[in-house]
Order: sequence, then structure tokens, then C-alpha cells
Amino acid sequence: MKVGVLTAGGDCPGLNAAIRGVVARIVGGGGECVGILKGWRGLMEGLVRPLTRNDVRGILYQGGTILGTSRMDPFVHGEGYESVRATIESSGIETVVVIGGDGSLRTAARLEAEGLPVVGVPKTIDNDIPGTDVTFGFHTAVQIVTDAIDRLTTTAESHNRVMVVEVMGRTAGWIAAYAGLAGGAEAILVPEVEYDLEELAERLRRRHKSGHDYSIVVVAEGTPVPEGGQATRGVDAYGFARLGGVGNVIAAELEQLTGYECRVMTLGYLQRGGTPTAYDRILATRLGLAAGELALKGETGVMVAVRGESIVPVSLSEVSQPPRQLDPDRLRDASWFFP
Ligand code: F6P
Repeated sequence: MKVGVLTAGGDCPGLNAAIRGVVARIVGGGGECVGILKGWRGLMEGLVRPLTRNDVRGILYQGGTILGTSRMDPFVHGEGYESVRATIESSGIETVVVIGGDGSLRTAARLEAEGLPVVGVPKTIDNDIPGTDVTFGFHTAVQIVTDAIDRLTTTAESHNRVMVVEVMGRTAGWIAAYAGLAGGAEAILVPEVEYDLEELAERLRRRHKSGHDYSIVVVAEGTPVPEGGQATRGVDAYGFARLGGVGNVIAAELEQLTGYECRVMTLGYLQRGGTPTAYDRILATRLGLAAGELALKGETGVMVAVRGESIVPVSLSEVSQPPRQLDPDRLRDASWFFP
């Protein structure tokens, strides 16, 4: 069995651990692995190379992806299966393990329907892929944001400022809520829940007058701005909207309403870079091994998903569901500590 492996979409900590898991299981089971470079682009442009056990030694703890990634999509930038057929046929790849976010996994499902056997592995720091309880990369991102909040809290306190921390989360506020809870934020704004800036300003006034005259407000990048709609910074090279800037809008309005000095910290790509936590290394390894096993057995059209403590195959069609929204209980937990 010859299995191709690719990583597509935004990178996240744990991708290399997942690749290593796939290769170990395939090679250990008597199969052969091929690395497809730069996501779907590699399949469209014939960018493939052998991927041996030796190639994946020493990468477990490394951030990024040794295969590279891109947001190129054979259905958006090509003619679907026809755009990848030549590479599949010339390389002899029988099944492709796609390590990707919801967009890449939807593309995988469409290619499977057109005749390409595929096994999906969900990944994203945003933790919003439907059909799985959690995605690898999320735990690391939450730790990075929590560390940042700890540091921002001391400088906010020294200067009696409101620190608005903008974090990733296009459609869901998982990172904002978890890191806000772990960092003891005074407010958390997420795409799933409407907010009232007047009411937030009043809560901040209450806190600042009580002797704690500094605050941390965490906002997910996908949270609508007060006038409605998401704050964007144009589109990327593949035509996808680049989010960012809601933190600046919120900070300016809060400064106006409260008179307190507000500062903005946009954590951006720091949340995606660098070494994965032990939790994410283990999760990514388990998912990679499970995907390798399914590929060897010829069980395709599935995604490996986390259900409780188990890894189970679920239909790739699950990813056509809307993004998985934040569990409202986490926000409720955090709100007991809001002013
Ligand atoms: O999907 C993960 C994510 O980190 C989003 O939260 C963010 O909006 C996006 O990727 C940014 O990706 P890019 O690398 O395309 O700028």
C-alpha cells in the first residue's frame, strides 16, 4: 500500500507529530509513504518525495510542518480531481492522508467522491472542526495565550490600563474562552455571543473603582465589531479573508466610554508557531497512527475523530456541518470571575 501524506491550510503545533505517527504506522505495517509538499498544491503540481521512517526522526517536538502547507484548493484553483490525477497516477499513490482543517477536509470529501481514496486527520488551533471533541494545536495555543495574559496582566497593573488581547478564532471562541478562563480575564468576547459595550464599560468601571484599576479583555478575532460584520485586513494570495482588527475597535470604544487608557495586544501567529505541548504531541501522534491504520486497511472516506478518550473513524461528511461552537458552559465558568 502506497500512502501519500499532506498538510493543508493554516499550520498548527503538532503537525509533525501527526506526520510521524502516520509514517510509523504505515511503514511499520509494511506500507510505503510519500510526502506531498505544500498541501493540495503539491498534488496539483507533482511536488512529492519519499517519506521514510528516517525522514520523520527528531521532528516530534518541532512546530510547523516538514511537508509545508498552503491554502491552494483543487476545486477553487483547479478542476477538482482532474487537477490531481496526473500526480496520483505518476506517483502510484493509492490513498492520501489529509491533515487539515474544515476547509481542507471538505475538499478531501469531494475528492473522495470523485474517486480519490482519502483519510482525514483534523487539525487547527481554533478547535472548531465538527465531528471531533477536540483538535490538536488548540491546547498549545491556549497555553501560549495564557502565558501572554499572565505577562500582560503585570504591565496592565503597573500602568492602570485596560489590555485588550486579540486572539485567533475565526468562527468560534474556543481559544478566547479557555485562555481567558485560565488567565483570569475580566471579559471575554467571542463570535457566538452578543456583547454590549456600555455594559462592559460599566463592569470595568466597577472593578477599577474597587481598587483593582486594571483589566484584561480577551477578544476572538472573529467577534463582530459593534456596527456588525468581522474586522478584516483584505484577502490572502488565495482569496481568503484575513481577519484582524476587532481588538483595536473594542479598545478605542472602551477608552471613549470609560476614560481608562486602553492598549491592544494582537497575538496573531505566535499562537500557531513553535513546539507543541505534551498533550498535543500525544493527541497528534494517536491521530496519525489511527489514520495510518485506516489507510492500510483501505478504510477511506473517513476522518479520525476524538470522542471522549477514544479515537474513532467518522464519515468525512461530518465536516460539512457548521463549525463547532464554543461550549457556553466555559464562558459561564469564566463569568463568575468577571466584575
Ligand atoms: O484556521 C486557523 C487560523 O489560525 C485562524 O484562526 C486565522 O484566522 C487563520 O488561521 C489565519 O490564517 P493565515 O495563515 O491564512 O493568515
